[in-house]
Amino acid sequence: MLKPNKLANKNFLSSLDLSSSEVFHLFELAKNFKNKKINIDLNNKVLGLIFDKSSTRTRVSFQVAMSRLGGTTIDLNPTTSQIGRGEPIKDTARVLSRYCDVIAIRTFDHSNLQEYAKWSTKPVINALTDLEHPCQALADFLTIHEEFLNFEDVVLTFIGDGNNVANSLILCGALLGVEVRIACPKGYEPNPLVIKKAYEIYKNKDLLKICHDPNTAVIGANVLYSDVWSSMGEENQKEEKDKNFNGFTIDSDLVSKANKDAIVLHCLPAYRSKEITDEVFESKKNRIFEQAENRLHAQQALLSCLLN
Ligand code: CP
Ligand code: NVA
Repeated sequence: MLKPNKLANKNFLSSLDLSSSEVFHLFELAKNFKNKKINIDLNNKVLGLIFDKSSTRTRVSFQVAMSRLGGTTIDLNPTTSQIGRGEPIKDTARVLSRYCDVIAIRTFDHSNLQEYAKWSTKPVINALTDLEHPCQALADFLTIHEEFLNFEDVVLTFIGDGNNVANSLILCGALLGVEVRIACPKGYEPNPLVIKKAYEIYKNKDLLKICHDPNTAVIGANVLYSDVWSSMGEENQKEEKDKNFNGFTIDSDLVSKANKDAIVLHCLPAYRSKEITDEVFESKKNRIFEQAENRLHAQQALLSCLLN
């Protein structure tokens, strides 16, 4: 078993900031936290939360995780701090890392997150950028591992926009050797650099497929995954995206083409009758709330390692 302190003081900006053995170590730890088999006390360590976008799950799961670890969080709302008035990131990062022990940031440009990490002397965690959502991918693969007990022969089909959530699923999937298929409309493919990096990691290059036909992408899939069509910051593209994503709804017809044992995941929040029908969302195939719960356990494991 990997020693937790291997990750001490590291940043978690991308799914690729962990090795596959570190991901498996976090899963083991997360399951132990979940089953209340371990208790780690961080002695009042402080997590600063900078959220330039809305959040329910990420914010609350980080707050509860810190509380369970005997630490605390500070909500650094950009509109009530000097961040919103344009104080440079490099100044904010140097100040905050003298108060906080770790900082989680949700923002737009991934380069802003990297700028925080460059100037912070404390670990920085990606709580979602336009490019990646690595904490989400950890909880997603933890949920899949709980369901299927290993990743052998698991096929994950993501149907939707190839942005942050899809990018992190591809990278984490590559680390874990899981077959990942992305079915997206033309023009909404995942980031080319992400695809390139994933192909460098996959031993079997056939395990990553980017296509534009959900109906063929779900054949033989064990996990069907969806995300909103219009992400935060894309509110003005809603009408256009609703049109372009027509045919990319996870409905019962699509589910019937997947494996019999297939489960359905969604990072949430969900818009019924857009990316997923209410029927599928509420069906027995749904592991969406287990997945949401696992955000807490996965992040508790991550924090306990970064701060150990
Ligand atoms: N899935 C997710 O990150 O949810 P929130 O936007 O509510 O944090
Ligand atoms: N792609 C979505 C994910 C929300 C958790 C967004 O960026 O809004």
